[in-house]
Amino acid sequence: MTTSAPSARKCPFHVPTELDQDFDILRNPGHTEDPYKALAMALEGKPRIFWSSTNPFSKQPGAWVLTRTEDMRTVLRNPKLFSSAENAGFSKLLGENWSLVPLEMDPPHHGAMRAWVNPLFASSVIPAMEPAIRETCVQLIEEFRSKGHCEFINEFGRPFPVTVILQLMGLPVSELPRFLEWEDELLHSEDMGVKAKAARQIKDYLVEQIADRRQKPRDDLFTKATIAEVGGAPLSEDEVLGFCYLMFVGGLDTVASSLGLHFQYLAEHPELQERLRKDPSLIPQAVEELLRRFSLVVSHRRATEDTELAGVQIKAGDWITIHTPASAIDETLHSDPYTVDIDRPNKAHLTFSFGAHTCLGMHLARRELIIALEEWTQRVPGFRIKPGAPLRTHAGPVYGVDELHLEWN
Ligand code: HEM
Repeated sequence: MTTSAPSARKCPFHVPTELDQDFDILRNPGHTEDPYKALAMALEGKPRIFWSSTNPFSKQPGAWVLTRTEDMRTVLRNPKLFSSAENAGFSKLLGENWSLVPLEMDPPHHGAMRAWVNPLFASSVIPAMEPAIRETCVQLIEEFRSKGHCEFINEFGRPFPVTVILQLMGLPVSELPRFLEWEDELLHSEDMGVKAKAARQIKDYLVEQIADRRQKPRDDLFTKATIAEVGGAPLSEDEVLGFCYLMFVGGLDTVASSLGLHFQYLAEHPELQERLRKDPSLIPQAVEELLRRFSLVVSHRRATEDTELAGVQIKAGDWITIHTPASAIDETLHSDPYTVDIDRPNKAHLTFSFGAHTCLGMHLARRELIIALEEWTQRVPGFRIKPGAPLRTHAGPVYGVDELHLEWN
């Protein structure tokens, strides 16, 4: 009698066979044309919660994938049961053991760290940053406006938010090309060697910068981390590094990727552009709806105890994927999730996550996206995608657009 060898099974034994599904957490066929459509097709017919054995994040031996916002919220609102330790795992790439601060921290230390860092990015401090953000935005647009065309990602989408965050961190904007290369390799390369090399280069650079701030304090975020006290004690050397590392990688990609996705949509929908041009007071609600439609971060939690989620048995140690792009197309959250309707009264989304780890930079990010739309709609006439030009998108830990050629008259 022959039976299938147990070793042929890739998923852990507590995973029921019907929940072991063929699904790549990072990339589905067609993601370079439309990552959300590709995701929707890959999720078609899949159970509400299922196991994926693909291991793109080094999350051994795979992870549970949640498809419903409701289940993602259940996980996110319970950080004791679902830990954030090693969520991104960059230090593991280097064979080291420090955490991104506060992203990879759990209660109670996470709460104490947020209490220190929240005021630095509170909604009340953003207006003071606005003139510098707007100036950067206008300068970039003016560099290409009279040409009548641009490659949006390289000429605006990336340099705009990256310049803003570098100024906040006190890092030289002249180093932008080097930073972008490191960030691209760390977040988007599929080669673990290339990723690890970029992780090392970023770490070495940040360690140098932190040492410099200890000797010559300035008015910047890095200096603030070196002099901060949390719970009556200074941050450890690893915590300062973990905070600076997160600022560096968290601030570089997410706003840039959102801008790419939002501006691709606007270029394809001149009627929405026109509405915003005529009535700029609608821009904040348009940005919120675009944020909802284009949730883009994929992150992880790890169960600390055996538990149950929507009838599925989860074992202590199991990884769980919080796939916010799946939340963006979740029909149990919004009946018509694909439609961008800036007038929809309920724009609930998980784009900035939920619960204890809700994005620290969300007020800054919203302001950047609003300023970008205000300045573009006032300075650049109706823009569209250049016919015949390459247009490439990507899925991955952060969904986004690689190349977006726009033109206007
Ligand atoms: C549109 C832009 C952005 C999006 C979509 C976004 C999204 C997110 C998401 C989904 C998380 C939670 C991850 C998790 O729960 O595992 C997060 C956390 C975080 N984000 Fe953002 N982010 C954006 C912009 C920024 C910016 C500009 C900064 C820099 C100031 C920033 C700093 C952070 C930090 C420090 C955390 C960790 C918070 C914690 O763990 O308590 N983000 N972000």
